[in-house]
Amino acid sequence: MIDNSIIQEIKERLDIVEVVSDFISLKKSGSNYKALSPFTSEKTPSFFVSPSKQIFKCFSTGKGGDAIEFLREVDSMTYIEAIKYLGEKYGVEINEYEIDNSVSSEKDSLLIILNKSKDFFINNLKTKEGKNIALTYFEHRVISKEMIKKFELGYSLDKWNSLYDNLKTLKYSEKLMVSAGLILEKNNKKYDRFRNRIIFPIHNISGKVIAFGARQIKDDENQPKYINSPETTLYIKSNILYGIYQSKNSIRKDDKCYLVEGYTDVISLFQIGIENVVSSSGTSLTANQIKLIGRYTKNVTILYDGDQAGINASLRGLDLILENNLNVRIVTFPENEDPDSFSKKLGKNKFLKFLSENETDLIKYKTDQLNENYKNDPIKKSELVIDIITSISKIPNSIKRSIYIKDCSDILKIDENILITEMNKLLLGSNKTLNRPQFKFKENEKNNLAVKEVDSAINFCEKECLRMLVNYGTKDFQVFGLDRKSFIEYFLNEIEDVAFENKNYIEIINIFKMELENGNVIDINYFLTQEHEDLKKDIIDLSANKYELSDKWKNKFNIHVNDEFDDLKKSTYANILRFKFRLIKKMINENLQILNSNIDYKKQQETIKIHNKLKSVEIDIAKQLGNVTSI
Ligand code: UTP
Ligand code: MN
Repeated sequence: MIDNSIIQEIKERLDIVEVVSDFISLKKSGSNYKALSPFTSEKTPSFFVSPSKQIFKCFSTGKGGDAIEFLREVDSMTYIEAIKYLGEKYGVEINEYEIDNSVSSEKDSLLIILNKSKDFFINNLKTKEGKNIALTYFEHRVISKEMIKKFELGYSLDKWNSLYDNLKTLKYSEKLMVSAGLILEKNNKKYDRFRNRIIFPIHNISGKVIAFGARQIKDDENQPKYINSPETTLYIKSNILYGIYQSKNSIRKDDKCYLVEGYTDVISLFQIGIENVVSSSGTSLTANQIKLIGRYTKNVTILYDGDQAGINASLRGLDLILENNLNVRIVTFPENEDPDSFSKKLGKNKFLKFLSENETDLIKYKTDQLNENYKNDPIKKSELVIDIITSISKIPNSIKRSIYIKDCSDILKIDENILITEMNKLLLGSNKTLNRPQFKFKENEKNNLAVKEVDSAINFCEKECLRMLVNYGTKDFQVFGLDRKSFIEYFLNEIEDVAFENKNYIEIINIFKMELENGNVIDINYFLTQEHEDLKKDIIDLSANKYELSDKWKNKFNIHVNDEFDDLKKSTYANILRFKFRLIKKMINENLQILNSNIDYKKQQETIKIHNKLKSVEIDIAKQLGNVTSI
């Protein structure tokens, strides 16, 4: 295990805002930062980072936690991997020995062996064979030393076992070599997957190698041009884009992402100083790749070879891109040119000029293409019109939709109103399914409705009480002239006669209680350790400010977030009262159900008595509540 003091040191040095900013663009919002959730494709931000609490919270997925948790979620890092990443970022040295001994998961082991192999491939460039073959190849392709370094390019020797032997001396297990996709097995013989090839390591967002692409050096039709690592738990092809680690900051800065097909296209553009570029590695874009780009920018320009296959691949992904609210443009290249060759020919300025002059909006592009190909075939054409309209209907923004409709109407020479009517049909159709009620209460369930309402109100009140405890537990204050020191003491006293229903909340309260008895006043950080894994989600959920969810709310109801904090006594007291009020209501309901069931006279009288008593408590609490909340 990594020493606890090292983890502590890292936690003290890190700033969650910095950590998160390496992955998504944050905007300041009050005392917090907000962003579109990296875990969904939402349109309004519900992802918050609190610098004061050093936590993040995603309201649309419920995910939340500290910086370590964020790295685990956003980049599928393991706990150890996240610690290592932060250690590097914040200059806290972690003993390699400790790491190697702390390998706890498959992902960790894969990362280690893949990155060791990367080092091996890089070192091969220094051998005589590497110099003769690989460096000559790089020269011939005009790939600079700087790019070789930046992309950690390497070479796999023209031997059957060179990597295998190397990994063997480093004492890695054969099982791991095989599961990492580095070594293949045939007739009980092990041999290297990559031989006599240029190695393109594929990095995850935080810069660790998770796979390799390996290009043949001499064109040989009988061999695949590229051999790639197989998918592992670490490398899920559809989730990653080649170059994202090297390009993410420029993509954010330029608010634009160029998307190319190949590894060499990325490297060539980088070499002439265009650094906001990633590659889909020759396949059509997946939803996760689009989301990945969407974390950094909404503007994507696809640079594909002029051949129809490439274009079709990007058109297939069109609806997906539109649904994610990205603005997509496409640039096609002259015949026999790709971004790699053409950028080398033109140089940075001319190439950028070419891009800006040839960028076409993707819907317009699609419309043009289809119009050109099918203008003499009315049946085909009408199918295609629906196809395009379907694409447009995916765009969440209605203004954008109407602009596209107008353009299409011009290009296709079809009346705009017809297109609008067709699109509305599509939009209504999809809305209908959305609005369809998920379930219906049966007639005889109706009575339960009141009970359900009270139950959810209780859940809410319970949560509110716990929220106050978690957020303000350490605050000191005096209550109504009594000599109480901390908020926790006051709170625990007030809720003594209240039965909480939520199992985790009860546990949280008990922990607060227990620690208080030992003289410790704890806060949320106490729960952000692995020991309290099961409570962590609740704690994060509770630690969110009441109104930080929506600015609209704040304006609409003129709520000042600070009010609650300024008048902690009153708001806590009111919250506990509200909770008690709901509990009483629930008891009244339950009692009434007994009254409505088949009971004898004596039982009836008893129940009525209870009812009256409960009612008077209810009125009492309501009065107190009125006093407190009217302030
Ligand atoms: P390209 O054939 O355009 O390769 O395939 P490239 O990267 O531009 O390489 P050069 O310029 O010919 O050297 C585009 C991408 O498709 C994937 C690779 O990711 C490649 O970068 N691909 C292609 C494979 O995975 N396997 C193949 O056999 C071919
Ligand atoms: Mn190419």
